[in-house]
Amino acid sequence: MAALITLSANASMDEIGAILDRDAALIIENVLSTDQLFNLENELDPYLSKTDRGQNEFSGFQTQRIGALIARSATSRELALHPLINELCSQFLGPHADGYQLHFTQATSIGPGETAQVLHRDRGLWGGYIPRRIETQLSTIWAISEFTKENGATQVVPGSHTWEKNRQAEVHEIVSADMKPGSVLIYSGTVMHGGGRTTQS
Ligand SMILES: [Fe+2]
Repeated sequence: MAALITLSANASMDEIGAILDRDAALIIENVLSTDQLFNLENELDPYLSKTDRGQNEFSGFQTQRIGALIARSATSRELALHPLINELCSQFLGPHADGYQLHFTQATSIGPGETAQVLHRDRGLWGGYIPRRIETQLSTIWAISEFTKENGATQVVPGSHTWEKNRQAEVHEIVSADMKPGSVLIYSGTVMHGGGRTTQS
């Protein structure tokens, strides 16, 4: 049975890096403070609650998404500048590039009745011509509310970054990234993942 490792926020960079190399995904808990969670919800809700739901399968017909978080939310800027994440970006992406940039921000609210997003690799965004040995990105999903298998927690396939491109995941290889508010899911551009389905409101 596949598993997703959860570490505490004081885990060492070596420990985090070793799991990222092996699984290409992990959760770190208790990264955000209660104040930050409160502020994120208040800063994002005015936009998130008013935006339309998705218009296709990939974005989800029952899912609301907003972008431009750096402009809209001061606390989101704190997340983007978080020392742990940036140190990890330097360590993880350093061997593949002269530097790194934040290329995308999004807040997501998955609603009742949503179906699972297709499992995918985010590196597909850059086209298929970049060799696998070059990692294109490192992503974070921050839990503002609790993530559960029932409410659409992200699905991840740990270790799938080493798989042959067309290999499909078996059910037992897919893990629900259940996590408490204040936790962050960190994953590479090459690991398979997708938004989960909701079975409760
Ligand atoms: Fe994705």
